[in-house]
Amino acid sequence: MNADALKKMAAEAALSYIQPGMVVGVGTGSTTNFFIDALGAAKIHVDGYVASSIATENRLKAQGLNVLDLNSTGDIPVYVDGADEADPHFRLIKGGGAALTREKIVASAARLFVCIADSSKDKPMLGKFPLPVEVLPFARSFVARQLVKLGGTPTLRNGVTTDNGNVIIDVTGLDFTDPVKMEAAINLIPGVLDNGIFAHRRADVMLFGSPDGVIEKK
Ligand code: 5RP
Repeated sequence: MNADALKKMAAEAALSYIQPGMVVGVGTGSTTNFFIDALGAAKIHVDGYVASSIATENRLKAQGLNVLDLNSTGDIPVYVDGADEADPHFRLIKGGGAALTREKIVASAARLFVCIADSSKDKPMLGKFPLPVEVLPFARSFVARQLVKLGGTPTLRNGVTTDNGNVIIDVTGLDFTDPVKMEAAINLIPGVLDNGIFAHRRADVMLFGSPDGVIEKK
């Protein structure tokens, strides 16, 4: 089975967490796109969806689904999103699609975070995937130097501007022994909007699409 088939399997399994009348947060990326398509087909009568990116908002609307403003929903019952890596404690690296800041906001506003991924994302430890950091363009060089001081090797993601008008710096070589500590240390650098470590707000449920079927971890 190819990765897309495994992503689709995980995405469709997440439908079991969606109940009529809910507000549902929706992440960003190819796995989430399968989830949006499944939502469009399932026609569950939810109150509406909070999108974590403009791309997701557009895809939800193309499916005829009702998009809500997070400022009008209060906390939301469930958030469904993909990941670039997940460790055994459901701590994640996200942001491959450059949507990490809004994703972390919606995930943090959610009572339940269901993470959907193909099983190649299931890792014993975070850190192989370069860590995305969203940075104000004004602070790009300064932030890069601070990331070097934290042990990382920063690379500007060329040609990418986030939905918030910022740049992404991808960082390799960081120490992920304590992801909560690293998440906080990076976010203390002035000019950093947020980084792709989801350790303070990790996932509550992992749904991995695997060749043996969907593996659910809680
Ligand atoms: C976007 C993300 C995505 O969830 C992550 O990159 C996984 O993407 P995909 O589902 O395409 O593998 O964090 O910012």
